[in-house]
Amino acid sequence: MGSGDDAGVYALGDGRALVQTVDIFTPVVDSPYDWGRIAAVNALSDIYAMGATPLTALQYLAWPRDKLGLDLASAVIRAGMDVMAEAGCTVVGGHSIDGPEPTYGFAVTGTVILDRLVTNAGARPGDVLVLTKPLGVGVVTTALKRGICPDEVAAEAVRVMSSLNDRAGSALISHGATAATDVTGFGFLGHLRELCQASGVGAQVSFDRVPMIDGARRLLEEGAWAGGSARNLASLEGVLSTERHEIDIRLLADAQTSGGLLVALPPEAVEGYVREVEGAAVVGEVIADEVLRVV
Ligand code: CO
Ligand code: CO
Repeated sequence: MGSGDDAGVYALGDGRALVQTVDIFTPVVDSPYDWGRIAAVNALSDIYAMGATPLTALQYLAWPRDKLGLDLASAVIRAGMDVMAEAGCTVVGGHSIDGPEPTYGFAVTGTVILDRLVTNAGARPGDVLVLTKPLGVGVVTTALKRGICPDEVAAEAVRVMSSLNDRAGSALISHGATAATDVTGFGFLGHLRELCQASGVGAQVSFDRVPMIDGARRLLEEGAWAGGSARNLASLEGVLSTERHEIDIRLLADAQTSGGLLVALPPEAVEGYVREVEGAAVVGEVIADEVLRVV
């Protein structure tokens, strides 16, 4: 737990290890099916970020049955089951309670060959940083809550949040990634900072190369900026070195409900990884200086 890695790892003594994580959250979109998918995809991301393969999952649901129909709850559960089936992960049980607010998610167990485990602590100066999904979903979900989000932008954000990181995860092993983590609540810069701290390195990010959801920037300029993202940005004070515009940095600090993997790869492995993982983009490099620089 000390290095703030994505999941807990328990060695079984035969060269394999269990990889375990739990993630639950409250609704981020109106559609119960989309929300269920996003919650399940996000719960699996911590397994994929360690280079592990999901095996089993336990489902958790809290539901205000006096306020919301059980047909909506069924749609949430159906979505979660669909994602777990797509991931080849067996749902072996679960628990539901009556609660004041809908809350949904999974505890997931995966396995990995212990000496292939990818932690967040192995990045080395000279490694290349790759991000596998565009940023901006925090801005878009905030805009949705305010009713100012165009439909096509919302649809793209839902697609991003509900697509599995399975390929991005299995390619970590086949291409020899030195470190990885999934980008979620702390935003791109927050998770990059954790990875750098755990590895004892710094990073230089090229803002223009970071993939963004089309339309997110305009929504941010219109004021769609979540409280959690503002806290992410505040926590980077004294760590971040940049002359980029405030809006650029806000996009990099935006809280991602269910984002992609942030991966450090040896330079010679980058081309193969990016070719194999749809949407993956080179966004910067690992440096020896323990700072976060955005150029
Ligand atoms: Co994580
Ligand atoms: Co997590």
